[in-house]
Amino acid sequence: MIQRPRRLRSSPLLRALVRETELSAAHLVQPWFVRPGKNQRRPIRSMPGQYQWSVDRLVGEARRARDAGVSACILFGIPESKDGAATGGTDPDGIVPRAVRALKEKVKGLFVITDVCLCEYTDHGHCGQVEDRRIVNDPTLEVLAAMALVHARAGADMVAPSDMMDGRVGAIRGALDAGGFSELPIMSYAAKYASAFYGPFRDAAESPPQFGDRSSYQMDPANALEALREVELDLAEGADIVMVKPALAFLDVLHRVKARFGRPTAAYCVSGEYSMVKAAAANGWIDERRAAVEILTGIRRAGADLILTYWATEAAGWLGGKPR
Ligand code: PBG
Repeated sequence: MIQRPRRLRSSPLLRALVRETELSAAHLVQPWFVRPGKNQRRPIRSMPGQYQWSVDRLVGEARRARDAGVSACILFGIPESKDGAATGGTDPDGIVPRAVRALKEKVKGLFVITDVCLCEYTDHGHCGQVEDRRIVNDPTLEVLAAMALVHARAGADMVAPSDMMDGRVGAIRGALDAGGFSELPIMSYAAKYASAFYGPFRDAAESPPQFGDRSSYQMDPANALEALREVELDLAEGADIVMVKPALAFLDVLHRVKARFGRPTAAYCVSGEYSMVKAAAANGWIDERRAAVEILTGIRRAGADLILTYWATEAAGWLGGKPR
């Protein structure tokens, strides 16, 4: 036999030399949930290994992650109280601005991204303003723009709108430019699907919708061409990085977005994707570490430059080891 593909699979060192897809901590973003209070590290029941942190404890965790090799995080806030207008989200002394200030001051060498959305701050749990039980688009844009500006002023390195309102990237870009933040990048959750895989996150952020669901703004999982259109619009409005979310059930979309636009592309390996592996592993049905590395490698192979994943800190430890 002249051709024997197995020749290149014979040792870990050789496999590492010819490996096509690189997975390293440099591409991983760790999501964190931050809540009011002191000395808080509250386990999230549906996401083993993930916690709601008070700002003081988050600083320690962020140092640990950075020392493990994680270079970026994204923050989600659980405010003191929620209301119909998401006022907790635009407060300059709100939970996320306080966390951003603490991290930028106390943890050097960590890139801090903030999630920009209303659902964490509204009592109805929707990602937009509500009128007559309808999620209204344009009034929401002002709130999103104000929130992004508050995060920027607190020192965020990048803002990431996840609401799926039409025109939000343009509105946020305009507000940031007018506020003196024309250099601050936007990572838009461009193709975000209405997904069952967000279940555990709503537990973590305490943000389940109190009526209806998110299908009037998040995308129908059956649509891929529409995702390309969403990405095209966000890029036209000034998005610097475009995201596909969730990752596993949408790897084809991720691949097409990267192939079509060739722009910096992110994928969010969401709460449900993490928790189902955790649950199977806890039952002894699957090897968590191998499964997680395989999933993250697959997401990179499909076209993601960066991956938002709850495994980031743990994976940074795994990936620092000897060749696989
Ligand atoms: C807020 C937001 C959600 C997630 C990220 N930002 C929840 C949702 O849209 O319902 C999900 C993240 C995850 O499941 O890990 N809009």
